[in-house]
This record gives sequence, C-alpha cells and structure tokens, in this order.
Amino acid sequence: MEHSVACRLASDEGIEVLDLAAAQTDPDSLAAATRLRRHTDADLAAAALDQISLRRRAVSKIGPVGAQMLWTRDGLEQATRGEVSRWRAQCLVAAGFTDVIDLGCACGADSRAYLDAGLRVTAVEIDEATAELARHNLPGARVLTADATQVFADLLKDASDTTVVMLDPARRTGRGRTWRLEDVQPPWSFVEKVIMSMPAVVKLGPGIDRSQLPDLPVTYVGHRGDLVEATLWSGFAGHRRGDRAVLVSSQSTLELPGGLANPVVGELGPFVAEPHPAAIRAGSLSAIDGSLRAVSDGIAYLTADVPVASAWLTWFAVKEVLPFDVKTLRAWVRDHHIGTLEIKKRGVDVDPVAWRRQLKPSGPHSATVICTPTRNNAKVLVCERCADFQGGSSLGPSVM
Ligand SMILES: C[S@@+](CC[C@H](N)C(=O)[O-])C[C@H]1O[C@@H](n2cnc3c(N)ncnc32)[C@H](O)[C@@H]1O
Repeated sequence: MEHSVACRLASDEGIEVLDLAAAQTDPDSLAAATRLRRHTDADLAAAALDQISLRRRAVSKIGPVGAQMLWTRDGLEQATRGEVSRWRAQCLVAAGFTDVIDLGCACGADSRAYLDAGLRVTAVEIDEATAELARHNLPGARVLTADATQVFADLLKDASDTTVVMLDPARRTGRGRTWRLEDVQPPWSFVEKVIMSMPAVVKLGPGIDRSQLPDLPVTYVGHRGDLVEATLWSGFAGHRRGDRAVLVSSQSTLELPGGLANPVVGELGPFVAEPHPAAIRAGSLSAIDGSLRAVSDGIAYLTADVPVASAWLTWFAVKEVLPFDVKTLRAWVRDHHIGTLEIKKRGVDVDPVAWRRQLKPSGPHSATVICTPTRNNAKVLVCERCADFQGGSSLGPSVM
C-alpha cells in the first residue's frame, strides 16, 4: 500500500469513505465501486472497499477488534491470531511487566492485545504505510516509523525494569515463507542482541530448528488444530522454565511440560489417538496421560484400551487392522462402499494422493485410515472418529 493511501485511509476523510464502503451490500462489486466514486477518487474508493474484505477476514482471525483496525494484506497475513495475542499479553501481565516495546509491530495485532490488557506500548515499524495504519490501530500507543535496529538503543534509555521487548521478526522473503533464522527481519543477530540486553518475548515460526535457538524456554503454541508459533522467553525467570506445549482457546489455556521421553511402546489397543501437533513438537506426549502407549518407537500415534478425554488428543476407534498394502485396502474400500476416505500416516512411505487414486473411493460411507508402523510391522488401521473424544485438532476450522 502506498504511504499516501494509508494516510488518507486513517484520516477523517478515509473514515467517512470507509463508512460508505461498509454500507455497501456487495463491497466487491463494480456497482459498489461506482457508488463510492461519486464521493471520492478511485484510489481511496478501491482502498476503502479492500479494507471491508480485509476487516471481515480480520474479525475471524483476531476477533471483533479486527473490524475497527486498518490492514494491509501482508499485515493481516502476518498478524497473530487474537486468542494467541491475548494469551501472550496475559503472560506478560502475569510476569509483572507494565510496558512493551514492540519492535516490528506491522498493523499492530499483538500490540493491540497488549494495550487491551492494560500494558503501555511503544511500537516500531519500518514500513511507512504499515506504521501509519498501526498508528490508527493503536490508540494510546507511541508508534514510530523507524528501523528497530537504529532506534533500539534510544528506546532502551527510557525502559524500566518492568519493560519487556516483543519481537515477531518477519518470516517472508522474496521466495515466500522462511524457517531459516538467517532470513528473518529484523535480522537474527539483532534479536540476539536484544534478548541478551533485556527481558524479551520472541515469536518464531513453529518449524524453527530448536538447536539453533539459545538455551531459553520455548513454548510451542497450539490454537485449534494448528501449531501456530514457537515463543522464546528471555528474562522470565520464575515464570517460564523449560520447553512447554500450550493449547490456547477462548475458554482456557492448557499447558504441558516438554522435552520428555516418548511414551513406552505397547500393544495396539482398540483406540488410537492423534496428539495435537504442539504436544508432539514440544515433546510433551508422556505428560498427557500415563495410560497411553506409543504404537511404535518414535511415532506420534498413541493407543489405549479406553480413550482418555483430553483436548490434546483426537481419538479414533480401530475397526479393522489390515496389512500395510494398498491392494488389500482397495478391496476393503470397495466392499464397504467407502466414498469419503481420510488418509493419515506417520512413519511409512505413503503418498495419500497416489493412494487415493488407486483406491478409487466410491459409495455412501466414510472412513479414516491410519497408516503406521506398529510393534508388529506396518499396518493400515481402519478407524472411525470418536465423536465424544475430539481434541484440539477438531476444534473447528483453522483461521488463516
Ligand atoms: C511478522 S510482522 C509482525 C506482526 C505483528 N506481531 C502482529 O501480530 O500484527 C513483522 C513486521 O516487522 C517489520 N520489520 C521488519 N524489519 C524491521 C526493522 N528492522 N525495524 C522495524 N520493523 C521491521 C516488518 O515490516 C513487519 O511488518
């Protein structure tokens, strides 16, 4: 977005045009654009109509506050989900912090949650247009259009011992998303400098290589069925110890200790559970429930004689155990008139798309198959989801 368009959107003129855009029954239509053109020029009309669809997406990602904010497409894509921002804000409050310096705030989704939690916010954004929108989005905050690496030393002079830095380095390059620390912006060398000098919370991609990170606690954050981030905590002694898994929702925050040995491998039982990816990533499976056994060494499917109700687990009842062989499964799918087939796999070489082509599902029934090594060779487990024991991975559709 052009800086001049961002300034106009955030001005009184822009707010008026946004109200008009919001009143259109179909903001994406040519008719809506034509109607807005009677009140303003093409640039502002297009930007205002675009905001309406961005705000709609923002509400599903962030919550109602998303409808009051101004967005760039990138800013919304990079924004933290609302329930996760609010959880992180509560962690900062619980640790006794009163002030946050957000170094790379984008449109300000995280900072907005910090303000709403009663924290004072100084936010820095390098992109001029984005910073302009953040200024609108963060009433009461100090928003600087600046390179964080240039202004950090000055900001530090005003910091107190209850100030914490937030860093959510951009993970996009010209080639798309990156998991590599050397590609993030602001640069990782700067992030390291910050976390050495003061308390900081750093949001990182969930696929980050743990061995590249400093020896500080990392929380793997789950939201709905997704593993959404790895959060690194510096200077939270007494509040954060060791790696953990967290499952955030509007109703509760569940936590498990991480870095544990996997559950012991045992006999395949009548029920199999798929753990939440945050628990898998954090190495928390043994903490979910002592009665669970692993289906095979190093494989993140758990099994039990009786399902354990847990938000960390999605349970499947095993109806049949077939050899790991696509022809046998094809016959089963045909004989049982399975038209809707969900294929899950771990630890075996299966291309679900190629298998689906060979299996040719057709018919009124549905099934889930889990392809996995077990104590007795690889198997195809024909399963049914247990409706009463649906954990995090089925808490509704994911948001972007
Ligand atoms: C991943 S986004 C932050 C998203 C934000 N936490 C939210 O929830 O809305 C990272 C932002 O950092 C900004 N950025 C990158 N390098 C920067 C730098 N050196 N100084 C200030 N901002 C920077 C990018 O322009 C981008 O808007």
